[in-house]
Amino acid sequence: SWTPEHFVDSMVLALQNTIGPDDQVILGLSGGVDSSVAALLLHRAIGPRLHGIFVNNGLLRKDEFESVLHSYKDLGLNVRGVDASQEFYTALAGISDPEGKRKAIGRTFVEIFDQEAQKVEGARWLAQGTIYPDVIESVSVKGPAVTIKSHHNVGGLPEKMNLKIVEPLRALFKDEVRQVGDALELPHNILHRHPFPGPGLGIRILGDVTPHKVDLLQRADAIFIDGLREFGLYEQVWQAGVMLLPIQSVGVMGDERTYEQVVALRAVTSVDGMTADWAHLPYDFLAHVSNKIINQVRGINRVVYDISSKPPATIEWE
Ligand code: XMP
Repeated sequence: SWTPEHFVDSMVLALQNTIGPDDQVILGLSGGVDSSVAALLLHRAIGPRLHGIFVNNGLLRKDEFESVLHSYKDLGLNVRGVDASQEFYTALAGISDPEGKRKAIGRTFVEIFDQEAQKVEGARWLAQGTIYPDVIESVSVKGPAVTIKSHHNVGGLPEKMNLKIVEPLRALFKDEVRQVGDALELPHNILHRHPFPGPGLGIRILGDVTPHKVDLLQRADAIFIDGLREFGLYEQVWQAGVMLLPIQSVGVMGDERTYEQVVALRAVTSVDGMTADWAHLPYDFLAHVSNKIINQVRGINRVVYDISSKPPATIEWE
């Protein structure tokens, strides 16, 4: 029967047999479970000939880039962190339409990733954390497996650099990927992380994206997510995050009238993200988070809770 230990042993051998003794391998890391597990497997097979590239698009959660990069380095991975926040903000300037933002983020990612990949001498392979559901979806909907996830989409790099594709997780479902990650001692904070969209906070800031809005949203989001952990609720929801709405509302602070931003908290229960119910979080918890956001994040004076299910709503607001 299938065990994660068996899978690791046989996949490590298969990778060692497939990848030539001098071949270098490039992998884009996102901080998510799939790319991290793929990296650990390849690291076990070929050590530092795996070259991980972790791009900060400036749209990650608060402190996430530094802390995840640190975890990767602790695991002994050969990974390069590239802070390209400014390039992404420049590419996004003035764009309000959700698909326009996705395209700008995707295009900038490809540019940055290409530049970094071309610095790896002797690169012969591009590794990807594609898992079985991505394979099915991509065959039925979007063509070749390499194009499915926007944040894993590497444009024409394989052709340009003459790279072959290696996808060690192609046959696995998500729960199996988690079991493999556990067997490879992937830290708990990465293994049990909520899903997070490739375009990140870029699609949780409704309307155009500015560094100031990213800062506001990162601080509100950190209060919500840290709160879920403190209250023991993090692993009871499938995904959670905060949306920065393009509205201001009137409030009072002391004797002053304020006119500031509104945020919506979103938390859902789900099995696969295809359908979802809004999480029935305790009122005490919601009160705690709302007070903390309004008291600590100057510029936000109102918090609302999204009670829409998918369908007909979606998990993200854009
Ligand atoms: P929706 O909003 O469609 O989200 O109900 C379902 C799941 O997909 C994630 N999502 C994305 N992931 N690129 C991604 O990599 C995207 O453009 C994107 N849009 C939504 C969302 O976070 C949820 O987990």
